[in-house]
Amino acid sequence: MRAPGRVNLIGEHTDYNAGLCLPVAIPAATTARATVLDQGPTRIASAQQDDTWSGVAADAAPGRVDGWAAYAAGVLWALEQAGYVIPPLDLALDSTVPLGAGLSSSASLEAAVAVAAVTAAGLDLDDDLRRALVEACRRAETEVAGAPTGGLDQSAVLLARDGHALLLDFADGSAEHVPVDVGAAGLQLLVVDTRVSHALTDGGYGSRRDQCEEAARRLGVGSLRESTPADVATLDDDLLRRRATHVVSENTRVEKAVHALRAGDWAELGRLFTASHLSLRDDFEVSCAELDLVVDTALQTGALGARMTGGGFGGSAIALVPAERADAVRRAVDVAFVRGGLAAPGHLDGTPSAGAAPV
Ligand code: GLA
Repeated sequence: MRAPGRVNLIGEHTDYNAGLCLPVAIPAATTARATVLDQGPTRIASAQQDDTWSGVAADAAPGRVDGWAAYAAGVLWALEQAGYVIPPLDLALDSTVPLGAGLSSSASLEAAVAVAAVTAAGLDLDDDLRRALVEACRRAETEVAGAPTGGLDQSAVLLARDGHALLLDFADGSAEHVPVDVGAAGLQLLVVDTRVSHALTDGGYGSRRDQCEEAARRLGVGSLRESTPADVATLDDDLLRRRATHVVSENTRVEKAVHALRAGDWAELGRLFTASHLSLRDDFEVSCAELDLVVDTALQTGALGARMTGGGFGGSAIALVPAERADAVRRAVDVAFVRGGLAAPGHLDGTPSAGAAPV
């Protein structure tokens, strides 16, 4: 069982606004080894954690489990709620997705458990089941772990395809695979983990959601997806106007990014990355000094574009760079962090990879 982490190419803080996102799965992944037991309880251990979880699905109902086990065991609860009968399991998890790096370590963990569970139940992981698992993992994350996330991460890790980005439309639930062959274009997608840990369960993420909902309410729409820049300009409240401006402009950037990918216009894709970062930094205010430093340094060292990825407040940034500049960009970022008195950042491979699989 293998479930990847993800980076979002563009379309940030749009999922919970019925908007557009364009993530890719990355090579870093969580693996699960599963043994079916004759009798319960189920046991879950993780190479990244000291404690193990043991129980039946009902023991992982909302409010009954916390910490990392909420993400893992919460999936068993959500699967049972959805009517799946999962046999008792011994699950051993291990992950190369750094925790708290904005690369969806939690969705990767959830998906590894989900795929292990349905495979143990003898089910075939077809497209319909993948979509059902997205929902179960999302329920584990929002209802059991209490992180009010929007579904981007679980969709990315379960639905992505090797060599493709995933165009997700949260207004109608559709998902489309868009080829993205950075290597053939002589480019690399670099992922830099600032090692500033972000948590989606603290207030910043939830307050952005509330502000978007309030902006939509004042505009008289069900979600900001229905609003135009002209509508948003009528908002009196400066903060709500800037939040909504980000969301509405970001949806347009996702559409343009898909056109750029289809046209092989990598320079345009890079420009859109950078414009997205500025919008997240200035209007949505979810960047931080370390993310800005990665983006600025990458751009100064020859990146076509760079941006923070994921929820923000720390975590990771991505940069689209000519392959021959990749080492120089990584080194320049390292030097900038040393000069800034910061802990060394992590470097990961952003090559668009396959979604979760029962291998
Ligand atoms: C986090 C959440 C996602 C999404 C992004 C921002 O990764 O888990 O649902 O909202 O932030 O785009």
